Amino acid sequence: MSTVTIALSKGRIFDETLPLLRAAGIEPADDPEKSRKLILDTSKPEVKLIIVRASDVPTYVQYGAADLGVAGKDVLMEHSGTGLYQPLDLGIGRCRMMVAVREGFDYAAAIQRGARLNVATKYTHTASEHFAKKGMHVNLIKLYGSMELAPLTGLADAIVDLVSTGNTLKANRLIAVEEVVPISSRLIVNRAALKLKREALQPLIDAIETASKD
Ligand code: PRP
Repeated sequence: MSTVTIALSKGRIFDETLPLLRAAGIEPADDPEKSRKLILDTSKPEVKLIIVRASDVPTYVQYGAADLGVAGKDVLMEHSGTGLYQPLDLGIGRCRMMVAVREGFDYAAAIQRGARLNVATKYTHTASEHFAKKGMHVNLIKLYGSMELAPLTGLADAIVDLVSTGNTLKANRLIAVEEVVPISSRLIVNRAALKLKREALQPLIDAIETASKD
């Protein structure tokens, strides 16, 4: 029996993937929030989970260090690698990528007068495509987190960030003005592994697919 390695990130993706893995008979031996281990055994001896940064999941799967992975569409849109097969929208980790500005900033008026906005974001590739499609010229400023601070400190006029409950925007007196793209998490598969280990991978993918539709 070939071994199967699944790359996951801690937090929401891990928590929401657990029930799907359980449906496939896979139960992790450790809780990544409590253990410092990065490779977790599971109830199936041939299946291991690796815990990586969300933005590193596609890289592990692309190079075949993991056979499967769960990654948000936000991360996948920023990842430029090849060799990934995205068979399933798992319908978990749902949120929206949005443009947001400070309360009182007239985004529509700024666009209308053709202002060149400074936009801070972790998602420079996706944001660049979004504004290009709208015919807007923007200066993109790359940040790695806490994007909400950028309009409050004068670093940027707007941000492109994920919005789930909207609580973070509200707490920082920002408002969402435009949707960039709806986001959910996808199961990604290494293309070569799918060919070479189909016998081990296909039943797993099928079980995860069935569970994700329940
Ligand atoms: C995300 C996002 C927002 C927040 C939105 O950050 O960047 O800051 O969640 O959620 P809300 O609408 O429910 O308030 P996350 O907590 O994932 O951390 P990150 O900044 O490391 O991406």
